[in-house]
Amino acid sequence: MLTSARPVLWLALAMTAPLPALASSATPTSTLRAQDVAVLAASCANCHGPDGRSTGGIPTLRGLPEAHLLQRLQAFKAGTAKDATVMTRLAKGYDDEQLKALAQWFSKKGR
Ligand code: HEC
Repeated sequence: MLTSARPVLWLALAMTAPLPALASSATPTSTLRAQDVAVLAASCANCHGPDGRSTGGIPTLRGLPEAHLLQRLQAFKAGTAKDATVMTRLAKGYDDEQLKALAQWFSKKGR
C-alpha cells in the first residue's frame, strides 16, 4: 500500500532505513539518484553485509569490478548463472538501469 507515500515521507524513510519493499515500485527507471541507489543497495546488505562487505559465506560485493558485478546480475536475471540460488529470483525484481546502478554502487563504494 503506497497510497500515502508522499515525496517528503519517502525521502525521510530513504535516509533512515532499508526499504526493500518500496525499492521496486517507487524508483525512477531512468536517472537514478544516489539516495535511491542507496535504498536499493541497502536491501542487499541483509545478505551481503553492510556496504556489501560480507562476513559470512555470501560473497562480498564491495570493491568488485563494476563489469563483473553487472555481468553477474544480468546472468542472474536472465537465469543463466548456473551457481545461482536466491539471486535468480532477486535480480528479476530490478530493471536494467537499477542493476547498472547497483553494480556501479558496489564497485565504487569504499571506505
Ligand atoms: C537473500 C540473500 C541475498 C540478498 C538479499 C541479495 N543477495 Fe546477492 N547473493 C546471494 C547469494 C546466496 C549469492 C551466491 C549466488 C546464489 O546462490 O544465488 C549471491 C551472489 C551475488 C552476486 C555474485 C557475486 C560474485 O562475485 O559472483 C552479486 C553481484 C550479487 N549477489 C548482488 C546482489 C545485489 C546487488 C543485491 C541487492 C539488490 C543482492 N545481491 C541481494 C544472496 C543474496
